[in-house]
Amino acid sequence: MKSDPVCGMKVDEKKTKYKSMFRGTSYFFCSEHCKQSFEQDPPLYLGNDQTCPIERKVVVVGTGAVGSTFAYALMRSGLTTSIALLGRSPEKVRAQVMDLNHGLMFVPPVHIYEGTYEDCKDADMVAVTSGTAQKPGETRIDLAKRNAELFKEMIPQIARHDPRSILVVTNPVDVLTYAAIKISGLPMNRIIGSGTVLDTARFRYLLSRHCGVDSRNVHAYILGEHGDSEVPVWSKVDIGGVPLRNFCPSCGEVCPEEEMEGIFRQVKNAAYEIIQGKGATNFAIGLAMVRIAEAILRNENSILTVSTLIDGMYDIRDVCLSIPAVLNRSGVSKLINLDLDEDEEQKLNNSARVLKKAIKDIGF
Ligand SMILES: NC(=O)c1ccc[n+]([C@@H]2O[C@H](COP(=O)([O-])OP(=O)(O)OC[C@H]3O[C@@H](n4cnc5c(N)ncnc54)[C@H](O)[C@@H]3O)[C@@H](O)[C@H]2O)c1
Repeated sequence: MKSDPVCGMKVDEKKTKYKSMFRGTSYFFCSEHCKQSFEQDPPLYLGNDQTCPIERKVVVVGTGAVGSTFAYALMRSGLTTSIALLGRSPEKVRAQVMDLNHGLMFVPPVHIYEGTYEDCKDADMVAVTSGTAQKPGETRIDLAKRNAELFKEMIPQIARHDPRSILVVTNPVDVLTYAAIKISGLPMNRIIGSGTVLDTARFRYLLSRHCGVDSRNVHAYILGEHGDSEVPVWSKVDIGGVPLRNFCPSCGEVCPEEEMEGIFRQVKNAAYEIIQGKGATNFAIGLAMVRIAEAILRNENSILTVSTLIDGMYDIRDVCLSIPAVLNRSGVSKLINLDLDEDEEQKLNNSARVLKKAIKDIGF
């Protein structure tokens, strides 16, 4: 018996009809699906095979609170074999690299080093976290303009090396994801914004605490802008398969409207509150970025609310915002058309209008 390299199931090599050859070795599969997944990208599934050592590289651009926390969470995850860090201040990059490398004894092996834009060549993902936060008295549009100018410098230097994917995290993330697609000229499915993955995680956490159940048993989405016009999809919230709107399975009642509004208010204001308390949000976004990286690098076909270019869905066109998307090795491979109720669809359209205006205001 052999192991199917895709799903790990035991397969009788004499009986199975699903076979494939790679670098002179035969591999056996339990199904056509596993065989096809393998043939799209054999090294992805041969991580432990000494005949084919797998290389996975992530480049982190920007080594501030978000970039360094992402690098830390990524090194712990064992997802990559290399992590290159680059940023504006060579001293700071060097210091971050040293500090991370001093923890190598405690994590799976990974090569962490000071990189250059050249490292974007062959990178599975380039995560862009450089940029400034809003200054006192500065409007969101001023901030967007400033970070868009930075993107005009940075994105061409990344894109010319043709990395497999670019993850935009710098705010305003939806506007800058759109800018990165336009500046880079790369296929839109390979440029992904972290979008409302973080907001969705906050929503699930607060719902799970409210209902007294594990957040992994809460299904819920925040869609639209990563920001003030974001939309909670209450019609699709379910706890262990039971729709929350009809009946709360944990307290046995219909959840009062004001409690639901209170939960959403906390989601929307979370960043303001954290920034007021400690100056930056970094831990949850770092973990959210690792989750997105896992979905892409491991070809998982996971559904996450990343920011991506929408062209036609819900009558929304030519704007980046978050709706549930299937993520795999090719980036965004499919968008999920949720059956939203009328109010939610109107709010999503409003969010799209807000973002379109912001994109126009910064001259894209
Ligand atoms: N999308 C999300 O969910 C999310 C969550 C948290 C933070 N963010 C955003 O991530 C970005 C980074 O946040 P942070 O807390 O790490 O900020 P930070 O100030 O700690 O780090 C920013 C980094 O960008 C670099 N930088 C700034 N201006 C630059 C320029 N002109 N050229 C080159 N590099 C420059 C700095 O050197 C620094 O290393 C911000 O835009 C923030 O709003 C997004």
